[in-house]
Amino acid sequence: MEGDVDEIIRAPRGRTMKVLVIGAAGRTGTHVVEQGLARKHEITAFSRRPTAAKSFAGARALTGDATDVAALRQAVRGQEAVISAVGCSAIAAALVEVMSEEGVRRLVMTSSRSVVATRPRLMVGLAWMRFRCEYADLARAEGMLETSALDWSIVRGTMLVDKPAAGRVHIDFEANASGGDWRLTRADYAMALLDVAEDPRYVRRSLGVGGPRKNT
Ligand SMILES: NC(=O)c1ccc[n+]([C@@H]2O[C@H](COP(=O)([O-])OP(=O)(O)OC[C@H]3O[C@@H](n4cnc5c(N)ncnc54)[C@H](OP(=O)(O)O)[C@@H]3O)[C@@H](O)[C@H]2O)c1
Repeated sequence: MEGDVDEIIRAPRGRTMKVLVIGAAGRTGTHVVEQGLARKHEITAFSRRPTAAKSFAGARALTGDATDVAALRQAVRGQEAVISAVGCSAIAAALVEVMSEEGVRRLVMTSSRSVVATRPRLMVGLAWMRFRCEYADLARAEGMLETSALDWSIVRGTMLVDKPAAGRVHIDFEANASGGDWRLTRADYAMALLDVAEDPRYVRRSLGVGGPRKNT
């Protein structure tokens, strides 16, 4: 599990779970809902756009703002895992509060590789100039999970693109990417989020996820 791995992060399947997806109408979130259903999980799709709820065939659709603790409590109750396909400190704070109260422990949250990366310097520096506020907020969100008593995982994606899935990702546990492609399809990111949620070996761990190496 340690270090530099280019693989499909497959956990042993078989056990289906009740999974709440936050940001379900987003570009990554829709893939998480679709793939989660295909894996036979019981999916609750939480989005703040009522119109999006219609497209979650096969899932239980809930509409609300994920920073609204009352709305979130209704969604979290009875779940076995939560995947937040949106990284944001206000949502992380609400999730930590509600999940702790409801006794739902497993939380997987998206974040960005750039939050911790220092290389390649030019690319990371430019990204920080452009997305300073977003990365600072993601760093706060990561800290909230790390200091919580939840069974959290933080999945730091590289640059997301809407291309066809490769069916593989590159993962590592370093601040800086140890290989792989900087471009990661949202479909592959969703696969990794589900794999991590299903696999207890990732509990209380942060990992970097990028696209697979081109020659593998
Ligand atoms: N974009 C990248 O290149 C990149 C790189 C690395 C990591 N990431 C991580 O990946 C995540 C997903 O990226 P993406 O591009 O797929 O995102 P996206 O398409 O912008 O989707 C985010 C979704 O979250 C929803 N949302 C935001 N605040 C909410 C709230 N308070 N309550 C309920 N829903 C809320 C949005 O709702 P609406 O549809 O109503 O706006 C949207 O549907 C990011 O948040 C970040 O943590 C992104």
